[in-house]
Amino acid sequence: MTTTSPRFGRVRRAVSLLTTAGLVATAAVALAGPAQAGTTLGQSAAERGRYYGTAIAAGRMNDSTYMGIVDREFDMITAENEMKMDATEPNRNQFTFTNGDRIVNYALSKGKRVRGHTLGWHAQQPGWMQSMSGQPLRDAFLNHVTQVASHYKGKIYAWDVVNEAFADDGRGSRRDSNLQRTGNDWIEAAFRAARAADPGAKLCYNDYNTDGINAKSTGIYTMVRDFKSRGVPIDCVGFQSHLGTSMPSDYQANLQRFADLGVDVQITELDIQQGSNQANAYRQVTEACLAVSRCTGITVWGVRDTDSWRGGANPLLFDGSGNKKAAYTSVLNALNAGNNNGGGSGSVDTNAWYVLVNRNSSKALDVYNLSTADGADIVQWSRNNGNQQQWQFVSSGNGSYRVKSRLSSKVLDVYAKSTADGGEVVQWSDNNGGNQQWNVSITNGYASLVNRNSGKALEVQGASVADGGNVVQYSNWNGANQQWQLVKVG
Ligand code: G3I
Repeated sequence: MTTTSPRFGRVRRAVSLLTTAGLVATAAVALAGPAQAGTTLGQSAAERGRYYGTAIAAGRMNDSTYMGIVDREFDMITAENEMKMDATEPNRNQFTFTNGDRIVNYALSKGKRVRGHTLGWHAQQPGWMQSMSGQPLRDAFLNHVTQVASHYKGKIYAWDVVNEAFADDGRGSRRDSNLQRTGNDWIEAAFRAARAADPGAKLCYNDYNTDGINAKSTGIYTMVRDFKSRGVPIDCVGFQSHLGTSMPSDYQANLQRFADLGVDVQITELDIQQGSNQANAYRQVTEACLAVSRCTGITVWGVRDTDSWRGGANPLLFDGSGNKKAAYTSVLNALNAGNNNGGGSGSVDTNAWYVLVNRNSSKALDVYNLSTADGADIVQWSRNNGNQQQWQFVSSGNGSYRVKSRLSSKVLDVYAKSTADGGEVVQWSDNNGGNQQWNVSITNGYASLVNRNSGKALEVQGASVADGGNVVQYSNWNGANQQWQLVKVG
């Protein structure tokens, strides 16, 4: 079915289609279809709704080989040491963010995201904190959480709020520390303080030796389940994955049981000892993350073997000269073989830019003819990843989102607040109206967008598979032409 409204005359469109097609034809052939192969880790992971990150050290940022690899391969950055307690608050109430800022600003300026590491830890405490205890320590610690999370507010994808708070005693107990002795609720107090300071950041608990199902990971599992049941704000669990020569056989099952609690899971500090199984184990970790829809990404703990905290273990993806190792190729191949099953949370990332690929046609949601004007038509077009095909979800604060064009900064809008089937979808200046708000629900990696004003779903009209197929609203019947794959591209 095609409608011809006076505002969106087909004759006018047919003429300008030729111009647009000329602009995009080359890229469209190469990039057609969802979940394409990538040539770098970050690019390939993004195709699957994931990130691929690394820890970096401020002291190495003048090394061009190192930064060349970071620039090229990774889309998530963690400061290896620069945002820890001793680095950020060396003297009580005197905060130093120079090196942390350097890393964060670098990442954001390159369109990469940041995992914050770490607000609370028994280790790497500044001297003044090590000698404190009781209520004064609790106050000082929560002040630290608040100050650091506030400084980085809006810039952090996920914070490791608390790191390594469980013991290696085979019983799943809390680790004894000065922070633990301030009261068993010190962890949830830190999560609440972090949420208040930076409501947009995902809040994670992060630990090591938790990579399989064992007493320690079960202790953490029990805590997360309790937090979720009581509404303590926790969004994710980090599995450091400093591995020996192999991956635990129940690695994926362990990730999945946490995901089933309703949190994202992330591999946060991956490194695997060199040996004949290294490439294979890296592949297995990659596949395990891709198999768990709430596994949102993987971070390796350093760039080259010579950058690793594990010295002689040579546990990373690049050798000392910056060459790709077999482990690198193994990871990239595993990523490229993976499906996009949603990459996580069943919710959208408001920091990211997405291409919305229609499930029925494999074409992308597109601002027609590169227009930046109010009222410009929204169509589908062969995917080329141009700015006219990139969209950001802007929270309206009520659970729904505007969908903003990277090209025009205008948002998807049901024209004239229509509530009818076939109501035209255009772009319009953002006024946060109900006809610009969409409820987004993601199932098995496909999103449906239902307009808040009309209750109708965003669809490709008449299940067209053609370039220029019109995008409208229609009663929601969950058709393939009403399902959109969200492919992160920035
Ligand atoms: O920069 C100083 C240098 O000036 C000084 O001469 C030297 C003397 O030892 O120390 C250097 O600082 C070291 C710093 O790394 C930078 O290289 C610290 O001593 C050293 O303790 C610190 O180690 C870091 C370690 O955390 C601290 O616990 C590692 O780089 C870092 O990779 C490691 O990361 C941790 C995660 O945060 C949490 N999970 C485990 C992981 C591995 O231990």
